Amino acid sequence: MCGIIGIVNISEDVSEKLFKGLKLLEYRGYDSAGMAVINNGNLQIIKDKGKIDEIHEKYDFLTLSGRIGIAHTRWATHGAPDKVNAHPHIDCTGSIAVVHNGIIENFMDLKTELAEQGHKFRSRTDTEVVAHLIEENLKRGMDVEDAFVNAIRRLKGAYALAVISTASPDKIFCARVESPLVLGIREGEVYCSSDIPSLLLFTNKIAPLDNGEYAIISPNNVEIRRISDGSRVRKQFKKIDMGVEEAKKEGYPHYMLKEIFEQPYSIRYALNVQKNYLELMADFIDRSSRLFLVAAGTSYHAGLVGSYIFSKLARITGMPVIASEFVSRYGDSITVDDSILAISQSGETRDVLWAVEQAKMRGATILAIVNVLASTLTRVARIYLHQQSGPEIGVAATKTYTGQLTILYQLAFSLARKRGKLGQDEMDRFIEELNMLPDVIDMILKKCDREILEVANEIKDAKYVIFLGRGVNTGTAYEGRLKLMEISYIPSLAYPAGENKHGPISLIEKDVPVIGLVQDDETKKLMISNLHEVRSRGAKTYVISSSDDEEVREVSDVLIKVPRVSALFTPITYVVPLQLLAYHTSVLRGLDPDKPRNLAKSVTVI
Ligand code: AGP
Repeated sequence: MCGIIGIVNISEDVSEKLFKGLKLLEYRGYDSAGMAVINNGNLQIIKDKGKIDEIHEKYDFLTLSGRIGIAHTRWATHGAPDKVNAHPHIDCTGSIAVVHNGIIENFMDLKTELAEQGHKFRSRTDTEVVAHLIEENLKRGMDVEDAFVNAIRRLKGAYALAVISTASPDKIFCARVESPLVLGIREGEVYCSSDIPSLLLFTNKIAPLDNGEYAIISPNNVEIRRISDGSRVRKQFKKIDMGVEEAKKEGYPHYMLKEIFEQPYSIRYALNVQKNYLELMADFIDRSSRLFLVAAGTSYHAGLVGSYIFSKLARITGMPVIASEFVSRYGDSITVDDSILAISQSGETRDVLWAVEQAKMRGATILAIVNVLASTLTRVARIYLHQQSGPEIGVAATKTYTGQLTILYQLAFSLARKRGKLGQDEMDRFIEELNMLPDVIDMILKKCDREILEVANEIKDAKYVIFLGRGVNTGTAYEGRLKLMEISYIPSLAYPAGENKHGPISLIEKDVPVIGLVQDDETKKLMISNLHEVRSRGAKTYVISSSDDEEVREVSDVLIKVPRVSALFTPITYVVPLQLLAYHTSVLRGLDPDKPRNLAKSVTVI
């Protein structure tokens, strides 16, 4: 997955703007980057492997001068992350440049065909075929638009593309199938990009390109058509009320820390979910015979916690399923009576979209919780709830996780009410407590940051770390493990603590750090006994709990006490110290928590 941007201006150079926009897209991939402009009828390109700033320092993107250009930041799918495979890619004549986000599934067939026609390929990417296809069409006498449209009609897979050609030096040709692409306009300048924030630097008049559409943009004109039949599409550019500042670090050393500390606000926003859609979604779930909570990574952990909450509050069975497993596990048995609740921060995770597409084909109702508006998932879902966490730049999901949980609680309450499973008093008490969570999180952040820094210092050189949870906090243990592992690279395990004696306890030896989550519910006694099990075998226990009674203290080498809330809400309060633990451990190990190796913010490949 990658980020792409294109700008065409009536009179000014665009390289500085492309560079600034590209920097905002870096969260989408950062193993290589490049830029192409047309200057006096010639294509000029800078590209290399590495982060955008490293490449800029080496070559200086601003030396490129031209009124039209495209740029790319890459997360490798086909071909190693090196200079040759970095975008933009060009045709044999060096007059067509292409940037692409997505995967062209039939590129091998196309490459073979083009190679037989004499085309010389420089890279191992799927993208390069697009440049050669257009070149071939031009050779056959088509104009650039026809050559472009004819080329993209031959592509199978997912793509957001932007193409410039010296044969049409004031137009960018762009198209979208699956991968996101938005357009922006201002007087004398038109843009295309993988996301909205990267364009907010220049304009707030935005229109997303829909699936299956292409656009030809020139300094004062935007023409949008359907790829399938070339028919014209009329689209309104809407004013987006969101500042670029939202996407900046605001004084924090890393986006991740900023985003952890934003949680009192982001949870508050999530509490403002549109109630009519919430009720509508609850109606659909209530009417369906089966409910699947489908998601990947952190969002899957939210789904897992959600399944406990739905059961406890509304007596509904929701089956949490890892998106990439959904089709083989349940694909054939899905019916029109089923509902899929897809949870995805980005709304672009390919595994999730794939599961959803398959379920939709079988007539299931698609519901979604998303953070990114106008994302693909919002278009395929019958109803979606917007969690409103704001842009999350750090690759590790933090505020969007607690935002997802906040929505899931509200959905569970709405279901419980519909199904008459909770008395009004109890419901009122829970809702009041949920509304207090932003303040509770604020207290936790103030109280725990230093304590957690000390714990991070103790575990930073550990060979491995084990996370134990039970009940509603099984998902929290998984999430704590994922956070630590993905940004500190310390191998970590998490499992429901009852599994201890079925195998993993053999890993316990002297001083192995075990992070235990103890909440005050039916699991407390069992969890305490699991902590005794590991402690008596030499583990060093770090316990997160809102209880500090004798029983809990006895099993805690270090106790991180968090303010008391009902056990039901501890997945939100307990995950915050775990996020801080991952963050501080990563920084203490000299790593960049915002950009863990081999990962990208939104995984748009299967
Ligand atoms: C977690 O920190 C990761 N960023 C990753 O697991 C992420 O949650 C997963 O890729 C799903 O992303 P989504 O919510 O955008 O679908």
